[in-house]
Amino acid sequence: MGKERGVSSQCRRRWSPQGQSDDFALQQANRNRRFGDRRSGYTVATATVLAFNFLGDGLRDARRYKNGGMTLLQIRNLKLEFGPPEKPLRAVDDVSLTINTGETVCVVGESGCGKSVTALSIARLVPTPPARYVGGEILLNGQDVLRMSGAQLRGIRGGVVSYIFQEPGSSLNPVFRAGHQIKESLKLHRPDVANDAEVIRLLKLVGIPAPESRMRDYPHQLSGGMQQRIMIAMALAAQPRLLVADEPTTALDVTIQAQIIELLRQLKQELGMSMLLITHNLGIVGDVADRVAVMYAGQIVELASAMELLTHPLHPYTQALLNSVPKLESGAERLTAIPGSVPNLGAFPPGCRFHPRCPKARRDCPQKPPELAEVEPNHWVRCFYWNAPLPTPEEGLNPNNPALILARAPARS
Ligand SMILES: Nc1ncnc2c1ncn2[C@@H]1O[C@H](COP(=O)(O)OP(=O)(O)O)[C@@H](O)[C@H]1O
Ligand code: SF4
Ligand SMILES: [Mg+2]
Repeated sequence: MGKERGVSSQCRRRWSPQGQSDDFALQQANRNRRFGDRRSGYTVATATVLAFNFLGDGLRDARRYKNGGMTLLQIRNLKLEFGPPEKPLRAVDDVSLTINTGETVCVVGESGCGKSVTALSIARLVPTPPARYVGGEILLNGQDVLRMSGAQLRGIRGGVVSYIFQEPGSSLNPVFRAGHQIKESLKLHRPDVANDAEVIRLLKLVGIPAPESRMRDYPHQLSGGMQQRIMIAMALAAQPRLLVADEPTTALDVTIQAQIIELLRQLKQELGMSMLLITHNLGIVGDVADRVAVMYAGQIVELASAMELLTHPLHPYTQALLNSVPKLESGAERLTAIPGSVPNLGAFPPGCRFHPRCPKARRDCPQKPPELAEVEPNHWVRCFYWNAPLPTPEEGLNPNNPALILARAPARS
């Protein structure tokens, strides 16, 4: 695929110090990865006390949501590799995920689990090489993105699938006014309404006050939160069917994070658009998600409705992620971090990839890989022992398992 021209609306107005047409989306993905890596130490511990407001709102939304939409996106058994074919590094391993019209699906997991490359694959924005798709399909409105021509891909990028990324400051072109950049997006996707009135309408839609004067601001005159709102306006200018938001709040202050999540929630309700929200923070999931997929080491390990997953998590990894979200009422002195870290590509542990960090790990967990199984209606889990208690020392994989010791320790308050 290489350097396709005319990627999503944002991609076309990218700024590069060299004035070159580098693959904007790849730059973003790399930037996100670097940024994410710095955060991997404390993973979801960056969740804030706002998490519980989000959780409550989200559960109310989840109850309102009727899963009656048509299938918009169907990712089936997707497999993506990096590295030489003789020593492949599989970053996405047999991922299947569906998004219906009007539905918001969240993908959560620590940095390096394969969330971004999965999301970028939807508009085939992962450059090949270095990546290779070695299996599966990505059906967008029934058409396989992996088999689309360059012209077909240009047609879906921006117009059908739009992206917003983590750091709005580096996605906006610093030498053009905000309004100009939105108008450029309109010219590409809806030239008949590429005028000031539509720019102002979009700015109002994303909650920018005094849009008539703000549209004349340059990006450096806007706060991080305002810049992200401009990016969302640019994505919406194309009227996409699916908005992919990859860690859209990670680079923002906590209070601004809450505002952007609230904006996404409102937009979802007002525009009826489908959304794929990627985050390493389970605390924000409850506010917007209808369904949640939890990813670990390139695989989905749990998939369920947001309400079900947040109130009744079954996979030990999901449980650990939720335990690391600070709780207002607990008064705990420190957060429950997940021991260890996500394994690097090419160094996945044998059998269940989570076993070195799992409190429930038993002797046979490293022997064979668990399959993703529907253990309750619409609730999928990749674990042999999802309904078993913590193992006894005899049953456990390792008597010094730090995750088990942590799980058995009395809660501190
Ligand atoms: N261009 C690339 N070349 C090699 N490895 C990559 C590339 N892009 C991503 N990866 C690797 O793929 C894995 C998944 O990355 P990513 O999807 O960015 O994770 P996440 O979004 O969950 O943090 C990581 O191990 C990452 O290092
Ligand atoms: S299969 Fe074993 S190691 Fe993997 S999550 Fe389940 S209990 Fe833990
Ligand atoms: Mg990422």
